[in-house]
Amino acid sequence: MEEKTPKETESSISRVMLPPDANVAGNVFGGTILKMIDEIAGIVATKHSRRNCVTANIDHIDFIYPVHIGDLLEMKGRMNFVGKSSMEVGVEVFAENLERGDVNFAGRATVTMVALDDSGKPVDVPQLKVDSEEDKKLFQAAFKRYEERSKRVSHMKKQEKEQLELIK
Ligand SMILES: CC(C)(COP(=O)(O)OP(=O)(O)OC[C@H]1O[C@@H](n2cnc3c(N)ncnc32)[C@H](O)[C@@H]1OP(=O)(O)O)[C@@H](O)C(=O)NCCC(=O)NCCS
Repeated sequence: MEEKTPKETESSISRVMLPPDANVAGNVFGGTILKMIDEIAGIVATKHSRRNCVTANIDHIDFIYPVHIGDLLEMKGRMNFVGKSSMEVGVEVFAENLERGDVNFAGRATVTMVALDDSGKPVDVPQLKVDSEEDKKLFQAAFKRYEERSKRVSHMKKQEKEQLELIK
């Protein structure tokens, strides 16, 4: 499998926020933004792996600036890190007021996607080629998060197994 650079798969999506996306005061729901974050992470992961990808984890999300009806919401996604079958995608969220033209940084998130084979099992994906200093820095930070997540998930699986044994 040929390795890919983050540049090769970085992507963006954008959509104008409409009344069903927001509460009665016109503030866009966090859930609307999360859905788009999930979508862009899926696009980046699928471009990298050319496989069906599912969301395994969203372990970091900050909503920094309020988004309103009428704003153009833009998501930019880039691959931070690739394990074996899992990939961490970094997403940045921007909100543009279309009448005034000002663009604000509205949030960021890190999303772990897992590539699946045709039978729905995790499958290895191409490695990430990191050349620039920025890519290397992001990769190393994401690798630490991957290690922490792996520890947490294996602890969680162990606990689930023990609980299942107890109720048998
Ligand atoms: C994600 C999923 C496929 C992992 O399956 P699994 O049997 O636990 O697979 P494994 O233990 O072999 O782990 C596969 C990879 O996923 C990663 N992973 C598993 N669970 C994870 C979690 N909760 N968070 C982050 N990464 C996770 C592992 O670290 C591993 O990464 P690596 O291959 O790069 O080393 C499975 O938990 C699943 O199907 N979850 C539901 C996904 C989904 O439907 N999401 C949409 C919303 S419900």
